[in-house]
Formats: sequence, C-alpha cells, structure tokens
Amino acid sequence: MQKILVVDDAEMNRELLREMLETDYAVEMAENGEQALRKLYEYHDGLAALLLDLQMPKTDGFAVIAEMIQRGWMDSIPVLIISSENAVEIENKCFELGVSDFIHRPFVDSIVRNRVRNTIELFNCKNQLEKKIERQSETLKKQEQIIRIQAEQLSTAEAFSRLMMEYQSAIMEVETRLKVLNAMFSEEYKRNPFESIKSRLKKPESIYRKLVRKDFPVTIENIKEYVADVAGLRVICSFPDDIYRLAELLLKQDDIILLKEKDYIKSPKTNGYRSLHLILSVPVFLPDEKKYMKVEVQFRTIAMDFWASLEHKLKYKKSIDNTEEIENQLKACADSIEALDYQMQEIRDKIDYSDQ
Ligand code: GTP
Ligand code: MG
Repeated sequence: MQKILVVDDAEMNRELLREMLETDYAVEMAENGEQALRKLYEYHDGLAALLLDLQMPKTDGFAVIAEMIQRGWMDSIPVLIISSENAVEIENKCFELGVSDFIHRPFVDSIVRNRVRNTIELFNCKNQLEKKIERQSETLKKQEQIIRIQAEQLSTAEAFSRLMMEYQSAIMEVETRLKVLNAMFSEEYKRNPFESIKSRLKKPESIYRKLVRKDFPVTIENIKEYVADVAGLRVICSFPDDIYRLAELLLKQDDIILLKEKDYIKSPKTNGYRSLHLILSVPVFLPDEKKYMKVEVQFRTIAMDFWASLEHKLKYKKSIDNTEEIENQLKACADSIEALDYQMQEIRDKIDYSDQ
C-alpha cells in the first residue's frame, strides 16, 4: 500500500480524511507543521502524496512547502492543499510554489478519493516522463560523443589516406625517373640496366605494427618521421655493376636527397643477403605544394631477388624443424649466386667488348 501523509491541526479533519482514504492507502498523520516536517525527513522517499492544511499555528502549510522546496522534495512528492481557503490569490500562490491540487472543505468522500488518486497517477506519469526524457537526452549525448569520435577518426583516416596518396605519388616519381634512366641507358649501351621494378605501399597494419614495435604512438607525424619504407621500390638488375650505375645516376639528380644507404652487397648479411638499400627524400609536386617524401629503394640482381623471396618465406614459417640446415643451404646458395652474378658479368663484358 502506498503511504500518504495528512497534515491538519483539526483532529476532526484528520479523522475524516483517514476514514475516506485508509482503504486505498497507508495513512500517516501529523497535527502541525513541525510534526509534518519530522515525518517528511524520516520517509520523504516513500511518500505517495502529502495532504496539507495551510492554516496551522506556528509552522503553517507555507512554511512546510518552503522547507520542501529547499530540500527538493516538491519534485518527488505531490502536494494537495486541504483548506477552507478559497481566495484565488492564495490558490495561485500555491500553484506557483508547485502544489498539485486543492481539496476544499467540506470533504466529499468520492471527490477526495478521486483527487488523491488522480494526483498520484498524474505525478507518477510526469516523473516517469521526466526520467524518460532524461534518459533520452543522456543517450543523445552519448550518440553525439560517438559521432564526434567517429568524425575524429574519419579526419585522421582522411589525413592517412592523403599521406598514402603522397607516398604513392613518390613511388610513381622514382619509378618514372628510373624508367627514363633505363631508356637513355639502353639507347647508349643497347641493353637495359634493370629487368623490372616492383613497388609497394606498406600496408596500414604493417605501418601500425612497426610504430608500435618502435614504441611510438601511431600518428601521421610519426609515420613520416620513423617509418622510412612506407613507399618501397625494388629494382631488379641483371648484373651487379648495373646496380651501382643506376644508383649513381639516380643520386646525381639534384633534387633527390640520400638520407641513408645500406650496402649489403659490399657487406652482405650473415645469412647471405645482398642488396643495395637507399632511403631517399624525393620531391612530389602536389596541387598546392611541393613535398619531400621518403622512399626506400632496394637494388638487387635477378638471382638475388629469387634467393631473397625464398629466404623471406623461411622467416615467416615458424613450423620448420631443420631451420639450421636450410639456413646453411641458403647461405651456400647466396655465395654461389654472387659468384655466378660476377661470372655472368664477366661473360657479358667479353661479349660487349668483342663487339667493339
Ligand atoms: P625493416 O624494419 O624490415 O625495414 O628493416 P631495417 O629497417 O633494418 O632495414 P633493412 O635495410 O635492413 O631492411 C629493409 C628491407 O630489406 C626489409 O624490410 C626486407 O624487405 C629487406 N631485407 C633486409 N634484410 C633481409 C634479409 O635478410 N632477407 C630478405 N629476404 N630480405 C631482407
Ligand atoms: Mg621494411
């Protein structure tokens, strides 16, 4: 049963109201303002309605309302004024203070019960509606937050795809320059210094993994600063000396900057890997600016390229048992390849010179 509190200094009124309401509610009673406030302090949370007389000695109904407003209880408890007061100004004042309804004397059983029931129902409805709106605006706020986060992600994604486009342009730039060199070279020497060019843009997850491995936060700036091989080209040459000739011709171009060189041909890796690696800074002409982009160019011979792709497979296969034996075989092959590459170069020279 819902609890209601009847506050009136006249015992007759209290008893009358109790008789009318006790079949539907647990009726609590207070005979003055102080008593009412004491009871409100005690169980304001569990009160379905307050029936309040206005005129009472010492603490009157208005004083009770004032205290309730201060405590914020008017929002959770509907107040019905039980009074013989009929003055419009007083009623208006009460409504302004947040009172829900009036029950005038003399009390009529059916009217009292209906008024109380309706007021409680209406108040509950209003409260539930308010809570619903609160929840909805909470959800809306969260949605707005999600949209903001998504927009941020989108803008970094936009910046990322623009960066990738710039790297792709740098690849095209270097590829074109190499192809031009190839054409001029073949005109002069009647052969091509390189067999083919392979290019690749580093995959987003590889970029991500590289930065994480190096302990850098994944940002556009850090990609530019710390990932030198986003744009990668592999130039496959027939002969070792073509590698150096091509690299030299490329580096002679006055707008290409050499940032780093690793010569694994002069100093092969212990596994036998031989290639020339250049990290270049290359100008890219974009609609609104000229930008220098990093490009990694690897030069190697056909035979070494074949070797490297096989050796690369070994690195990613973890389930091989006799790794050491394979490594030894690969090392031996790499050494044979080197010998073979230079032998082929010698034969080429002999053929070329015999022509002259
Ligand atoms: P990464 O972090 O892998 O780029 O290496 P790094 O920064 O030490 O540069 P390095 O110049 O040594 O290697 C660059 C790239 O050359 C590698 O990503 C491979 O593609 C290739 N590479 C280097 N060493 C080897 C090797 O021993 N075997 C094979 N198959 N490829 C190699
Ligand atoms: Mg790499």
